[in-house]
Formats: sequence, structure tokens, C-alpha cells
Amino acid sequence: MSGSKFLMCAPDHFRVAYEINPWMSLRRQPDVALAQKQWKCFYELLTQKLKVTVELIPPVPLLPDMVFTANAGMARRKLFIPSNFRHPERAKEEVPFTQWFRARGYEIQMIEKPYYFEGEGDALSMGDELYTGYHFRSDVQSHDLVSGILKQSYFALELKDKRFYHLDTCFAPVSPNTALVFLDAFATYAQLVILENIADPIRVSEEEALRFACNAVVVEKDIVIPSGCPKVTAELEQRGFTVHATDFSEFMKAGGAAKCLVLSLDQPGTMAAEKPKLRN
Ligand code: ARG
Repeated sequence: MSGSKFLMCAPDHFRVAYEINPWMSLRRQPDVALAQKQWKCFYELLTQKLKVTVELIPPVPLLPDMVFTANAGMARRKLFIPSNFRHPERAKEEVPFTQWFRARGYEIQMIEKPYYFEGEGDALSMGDELYTGYHFRSDVQSHDLVSGILKQSYFALELKDKRFYHLDTCFAPVSPNTALVFLDAFATYAQLVILENIADPIRVSEEEALRFACNAVVVEKDIVIPSGCPKVTAELEQRGFTVHATDFSEFMKAGGAAKCLVLSLDQPGTMAAEKPKLRN
């Protein structure tokens, strides 16, 4: 994902309070002080070094995963599409996130229940297209509705490995032509779609994919990825990117890293409405 304005939420209430993905175990709690330190370090990298604007939503007690703002929904200009979380534990986040956007004048467009949708965890723009991932947490029908609302065509990719339960855990667009991708996380047809449509796929190894190498935040030619991914780092550097390897160990205990901690607030104008209209 790319962008220079993000929404984040401080990890004041972050812990593993339930198990809704294979990374989470009640017996493997994050070190809360270290999580605060890692989040602050990432926040400062974005705001001070990379000059990104970060808006903050106040953390809510008993909503430990609210720190993963990527799952709030999708924001485009003054439009916000809230998530419909599959798990009731996270569905409670829908109210504070929607209120935050409503209070800032966003038009709210809900996705019809019962289709599950988990925001930018599911749907990422690459050039003019939207790539969406479905199966474990979201329904493909919701992606069709999102594409209709945004007037943006999409490629729906079926996920098949439960460790990579959201698209942003195994796929990261880094430019209109290049994406980080862990192909084995996708069903066969989805793999073909990726290889047919993406000019320069950087194929990530399982070892680095399990270190969340694909959970990247792109700010023009700067990319934040988790530490311990030397092969991906080399591939990105060859393409002229500056890689900022950052430690997200405590957030990985809940199944997330860099990308999961931010939601884009300034996705470029990919809405069909902004393109020149074709005459019939
Ligand atoms: N514990 C969170 C969950 O399972 C992690 C969310 C990670 N977010 C993401 N965009 N992949 O919902």
C-alpha cells in the first residue's frame, strides 16, 4: 500500500485476549511495554523521518485489536466503508471507527450484512485496480460491493493458507507494476491471476513471509517491513527502494505487523468518477 496520510491507534489496550487467527495464543502474551516501544518507533519513523501525516484515533478499553487500524474499513477522499468483521470480538470496533469518520464529515457507506469485509486487510489498490483477498475472514461478495461503491475494478484472490488469513499478510503492492507476494498463500487460480496481471511480482519465500515480509507500508520510495527479511530487502533495494526494517515482534503475536497498524487516509483518485467520462 502507499500513501502519505494514515490513521493509527496507540496500543494502550493491546494484548491477546482471544484467538481468532493461528498466530494468536492466550498463552503467548505480548510484552506490553515492548509493544508500546515498537509502535512508538514505527510512529516516529513515519511522522519524523518519512514526513507522513498520522491521525490518531483514541484507543478503547477492551478492544485490544483496535491498534490494527488497517481493518477499520476503507477510506477514499470523504467516503468511508466500515468493515463487517467476521468475529464478534472485533465487530465491536465498528462503532468507534465509524464514529471517528462520521465526526470528520465522511459519508458512510455500509456493506450489506451478512457479507464479511475487513477493510484494507482485504483490499489493496495497485495502479487503477483493486486486489482483494477472501476466504478466512471475508466474503468475496463484499469485495464486489466495495468495487461497486468505489467504481474500481478488482481482482478477487482466494486465500488458502490460514496463517495468511488477510490479503495484506501475503501481498503488498509497492508500485503500479511491482508487488511483494507469497504465492503459496493463494489458491491456484489466484496465483495465475497475480502472475498474469502483475508485471513484476517479487516472490517472497515462506521463511520471510512468515516474518510478515509482505506486511509492508510504502511511502513513495521508502518501505517499512519487519526486520529479518534480507531477501525481500535486497529485491526492493535493487528496484531503488529504501527499506526500513523495523521490529514488530509483539504485534506478530496477534497476527499483524507494519501494514496492519495503518489505514490509508489519502488513497489517490482511483474512482472512475474522477476519470474522463467515455461518450457512447
Ligand atoms: N488479531 C488481529 C485479527 O486477527 C490481527 C489483525 C491484523 N490485521 C491485518 N490487516 N492483517 O483480526
